[in-house]
Amino acid sequence: MHRIPEKIHELTVGQLSARSGAAVSALHFYESKGLIRSRRTPGNQRRYTRDTLRRVAFIRAAQRVGIPLATIREALAELPEERTPTRDDWARLSEAWRSELDERIRQLNRLRDHLTDCIGCGCLSLEGCVLSNPDDVFGERLTGSRLMTESRKKGSGD
Ligand code: FES
Repeated sequence: MHRIPEKIHELTVGQLSARSGAAVSALHFYESKGLIRSRRTPGNQRRYTRDTLRRVAFIRAAQRVGIPLATIREALAELPEERTPTRDDWARLSEAWRSELDERIRQLNRLRDHLTDCIGCGCLSLEGCVLSNPDDVFGERLTGSRLMTESRKKGSGD
């Protein structure tokens, strides 16, 4: 990893990329989404303040746990005077995001379990397939293919 001398207060996009590990295209994307900012030199080149490094680290850490960019942007926008997130900010936000992550893991586990019933089925029924209709209450009681089997039995008079 490249070290930036302390006396340098601004970074080029290449330096920011090398130091943060984020691709230049990702940095441009973050900037287009308002997550980081730069100033332009007279030659129209981007310059980032040093604290952008920490901001990028914050963004990448949040992205790694699946936090959407819009949520990250909201969190950054709530910081006073758009300051760079501190250690305390990260501790507070990561705690709040943990419950979201737990919920997503729970949903994914449930979908993975139901995928077993879909393998070899192919119905994708809104009524019977939990993966087609994940919020359906049937999904809490029966898996899709079993539900389809039971409704077919009822329909055939068995
Ligand atoms: S494809 Fe999911 S239950 Fe048939």
